[in-house]
Amino acid sequence: MTTNVLAICGSLRKGSTNRMLLRVATAMAPAGMTITEHPIKDLPLYDGDIEAPSPASAIALRDAVVAADALLLVTPEYNHGPSAAMKNVVDWLSRGSLATTPGGPAPIIGKIAAVMGASGGVSGTMRGQVQLRSNLVPLQVHVMLMPWMLLPASGSKFNPDGSLNDEPSKKALADFLAAFAKWIERMKR
Ligand code: FNR
Repeated sequence: MTTNVLAICGSLRKGSTNRMLLRVATAMAPAGMTITEHPIKDLPLYDGDIEAPSPASAIALRDAVVAADALLLVTPEYNHGPSAAMKNVVDWLSRGSLATTPGGPAPIIGKIAAVMGASGGVSGTMRGQVQLRSNLVPLQVHVMLMPWMLLPASGSKFNPDGSLNDEPSKKALADFLAAFAKWIERMKR
């Protein structure tokens, strides 16, 4: 049976190193796992005044999340936190107004997830990931605890064809994905 992982990239720019990392992860996904990015460029900032009825982009995000076995959240680090775009995704998905049944739980509640990220600095999104993991606690998201996937100095880690140019990073990503596959199986039980 295939495990369907929905990926969200918290950088909106075309040349994003986080999306490059996600593309490498997609290509390296372990047997039985598919990773598909859901674009969020059209998702407006969460605003209670446009919440009900929710915009089509929020409904599409909700439907993709509900259909997925697990989420892969790929965040840049902006000023030691996750990007506003990533936090905005969490905020939308935390709303009961996006529940698939009236009065049901918000779509992200109880999902299985992993977090990874790429940044220009030395910590490779460590501080941004700490904050994002903390944002997921009240939503009871089952975030993989270990290992972490951190890509520091991300601007120098990719070849022109988008592949990773650094063996330790490739190994870290392979280990991370293998652990995520096991985590998903464990949390699904
Ligand atoms: C950054 N960057 C950054 N890097 C880092 O390691 N720690 C940080 O706190 C920040 N803060 C920060 C704030 C803002 C507003 C920007 C635009 C950038 C650098 C950042 O890691 C770098 O631009 C990455 O390349 C962003 O990820 P993408 O867009 O390549 O995926």
